[in-house]
Amino acid sequence: MLMGGHSTLTERQLLSKQNTKVAARSRRDGEFADGDTQDWSSCSKSVEAYVAGLEEGIMETRNDLPAETRRDVAETLNHVLAIVSDLYSQTKQAHWNVRGPQFYMQHKLFDEVAESVEEHIDTLAERVVQLGFKARGTVRQAATESSLPEFPTEQRDDLDFTYALSDRFAQAATETRKGIEDCEVAGDTDSADILTQISRDLDKSLWFLEAQFRAIGDGSQEPTAENTRFPQRSMQPAGR
Ligand SMILES: [Fe+2]
Repeated sequence: MLMGGHSTLTERQLLSKQNTKVAARSRRDGEFADGDTQDWSSCSKSVEAYVAGLEEGIMETRNDLPAETRRDVAETLNHVLAIVSDLYSQTKQAHWNVRGPQFYMQHKLFDEVAESVEEHIDTLAERVVQLGFKARGTVRQAATESSLPEFPTEQRDDLDFTYALSDRFAQAATETRKGIEDCEVAGDTDSADILTQISRDLDKSLWFLEAQFRAIGDGSQEPTAENTRFPQRSMQPAGR
């Protein structure tokens, strides 16, 4: 329900936000300026939808993207936010617990790729809020919403850690690219651009991780932790 005292003004503001992009353009052109003769009663459904939104915690904004676009995009961004937050914590988990012959190099590498993930968390969450919605950014929310599998607790050595991480970076990049498509379909090219930057960085981190493994042919074979390992070199006694 509308709050008493300023319902008329609120309805007008809400209606202009609930209308389509065309309506938003018209508003900029002055068609819906204060004092016009628009029949607001015909848009009661839009008012109801907006008021329902208020009850859900949707925030007021002058952003001219249609409310439906903003809602769809905020959902997409919150989904990627959960994945990226989960990926960050899993990468730090690997950074802390890695052991093996390449410990120091892997320990540093995992920290660097974790940093490249972390910087996107803030951008994603703030974009959701800019669109008038709430960011779902707590650890619990990320754990509930992320589609990544939990980081395995048992690894033999540093390469197992690297392999588990590369799996998760690949999945995060795939999900982010789906998000780009969703934002473009919804009509928010700015959010699509944010996700494009993220997917590019995820791909770069994936390259750093996968470069630890050997190629296995023409690309038609499914890579596994075993078939992509370089053969172990055995130590030869001196003089032989
Ligand atoms: Fe550290």
